[in-house]
Amino acid sequence: MESFSSVIRTASQEQHTEAETSTFMSDLLGGKLGVDAYARYTEQLWFVYEALETDAGSIAADPVAGPFVRPELFRLPALERDLAHLRGPEWRAGLTALPATRAYADRVRSCVERWPGGYLAHHYTRYLGDLSGGQIIRDRAERTWGFARKGDGVRFYVFEGIPNPAAFKREYRALLDGVPVDDLEKQRIVAECKKAFALNTAMFRALGDEFPLSA
Ligand code: HEM
Repeated sequence: MESFSSVIRTASQEQHTEAETSTFMSDLLGGKLGVDAYARYTEQLWFVYEALETDAGSIAADPVAGPFVRPELFRLPALERDLAHLRGPEWRAGLTALPATRAYADRVRSCVERWPGGYLAHHYTRYLGDLSGGQIIRDRAERTWGFARKGDGVRFYVFEGIPNPAAFKREYRALLDGVPVDDLEKQRIVAECKKAFALNTAMFRALGDEFPLSA
């Protein structure tokens, strides 16, 4: 039987490509956008990780999602340092969520409050992605806008507590494979994972609308 980690990966592959090749991501990675667009994107991530992490302690004891909640993954402190660098010390005052971001964060929060399996889907979609493609985004951001390597502005992409991301991802997939839920719940988790990708794509679309390339 196919392992759960491989089911979840295959199920979201098409949407992964869609997110990766979205206009906003392509423009950002193609070095076509200004640092303001990058800062705006980083602000949106703040709302997503605020939802993922602020009350994560409440599910730490949950048998399904609890084992995935690891402090070395937490991104909020890094995001806050990046935003202070990108926007200045008053960064909080100008912080606003796009409607698509608000919808994404609300969905994550409702999973935190009432559905550990759903939280796991959102956890996987963001953190495993950050540990993978996130490294490509960091490299491009450093080159395009001149941030210090692994320094302020790109700390979100730097997992200080995870020296070996490949090993970490292997362990993560093993945890997924052993997750104590029945097949029906696994199907629901996969469906939520697809929803998580769709929420990311919607956020990229909204960002793309805000930063169209000048012809
Ligand atoms: C331009 C942007 C992106 C690039 C270049 C990229 C690239 C990659 C690469 C190369 C991998 C494979 C890593 C491996 O096999 O270990 C990966 C995995 C992954 N990415 Fe992305 N990615 C991008 C955007 C995203 C986005 C927006 C999301 C979702 C929010 C995402 C979620 C994931 C997930 C969940 C995995 C793990 C798949 C698995 O092994 O189960 N990625 N990405």
